[in-house]
Amino acid sequence: MKKILITGGAGYIGSHTAVQLVQSGFEPIIIDDLSNSEEKVLDRLEEILGKRLTFYKGDCSDRALLDQIASEHEIAGVIHFAAFKAVGESTIQPLKYYQNNIGSLLTILEFMKARQIKDLVFSSSCTVYGQPDVLPVTEQTPRQEAESPYGNTKKICEDIMVDLVKSKAGIRVISLRYFNPVGAHPSGKIGELPIGTPANLVPFVTQTAAGIREKLTVFGDDYDTVDGSCVRDYIHVMDLADAHVKALAYLGEQKDDFYDVFNVGTGNGNTVLEVINTFEKVNGVKVNFQIGERRPGDIVKIWANTSKINSVLDWHPSYSLEDSMRDSWNWQKNL
Ligand SMILES: NC(=O)c1ccc[n+]([C@@H]2O[C@H](COP(=O)([O-])OP(=O)(O)OC[C@H]3O[C@@H](n4cnc5c(N)ncnc54)[C@H](O)[C@@H]3O)[C@@H](O)[C@H]2O)c1
Repeated sequence: MKKILITGGAGYIGSHTAVQLVQSGFEPIIIDDLSNSEEKVLDRLEEILGKRLTFYKGDCSDRALLDQIASEHEIAGVIHFAAFKAVGESTIQPLKYYQNNIGSLLTILEFMKARQIKDLVFSSSCTVYGQPDVLPVTEQTPRQEAESPYGNTKKICEDIMVDLVKSKAGIRVISLRYFNPVGAHPSGKIGELPIGTPANLVPFVTQTAAGIREKLTVFGDDYDTVDGSCVRDYIHVMDLADAHVKALAYLGEQKDDFYDVFNVGTGNGNTVLEVINTFEKVNGVKVNFQIGERRPGDIVKIWANTSKINSVLDWHPSYSLEDSMRDSWNWQKNL
């Protein structure tokens, strides 16, 4: 069984990817400093998988710890999820974001080079596209100046990996540009665990439905979209997790010094109001929401062209928006 080091593997997307990796015959080795997750996730993963995953509590910028892991396990590849991701906080504490998101990637790349670990899958984001002129966005759509330090870290990380591959360091990299991850494992045992006020729509919806938040505000209903609210491409986290497994398999077939980037979305856009309506309909619960002012800096609409990942990685999403809303609510209820 190939061992894959998953940085940030106790987090939202990492934990779901760990499940899919095990189910595809890989052995995940998780490193997470629990800065945005809880150790309980490991118990939940054990309940789902019927076995305990190997877990190191620590910072993936700690080279000595990485070397220790590599001396204890033959690591075949890395999936680098670990990063801070709160866009708003990144505008207030930009150095914290540059330090963690870029610093951890640099350490991981140095480590991989030194240990001759070839394959890396990196968590990038559709935020690199900004508000694109033409929709849906393909991987050729030009990246735009980042709206936030967080978004900038994703652009810079992509550039660093491109430069390293050009230098013939022998590594093979895929950047997955995630659109909007939603949903949870169908068992309801793992899901998104926002600490503090959620920055993303769906946790806000589920917390409002659960009575934890009094009211959800929809920022603007007068944009140029079907119902005036913003449009995003919501991808179920289980489908997203699968894309990492496919990406690893594909990397294994490539020559050294390989870099490519793939959009991971459904290829469909849904408005904020459609998400709320779907949530209410599927789960039979009301969400207390109000229409508020437009929020400065919000992207009005973005969704993915997914032809590349569909044809090259043979990856196709299998969960619907209804599934996502059902699974998110199921997870919230378990919480
Ligand atoms: N969730 C989204 O909406 C979204 C969208 C696009 C891209 N991404 C990217 O996907 C990745 C995973 O996101 P997520 O939603 O699972 O976030 P998350 O916060 O749930 O998971 C990230 C995990 O990394 C850990 N971590 C952070 N810094 C670390 C470090 N230096 N060393 C070890 N562990 C560290 C955290 O404790 C957490 O468990 C991130 O890189 C994020 O930027 C997420």
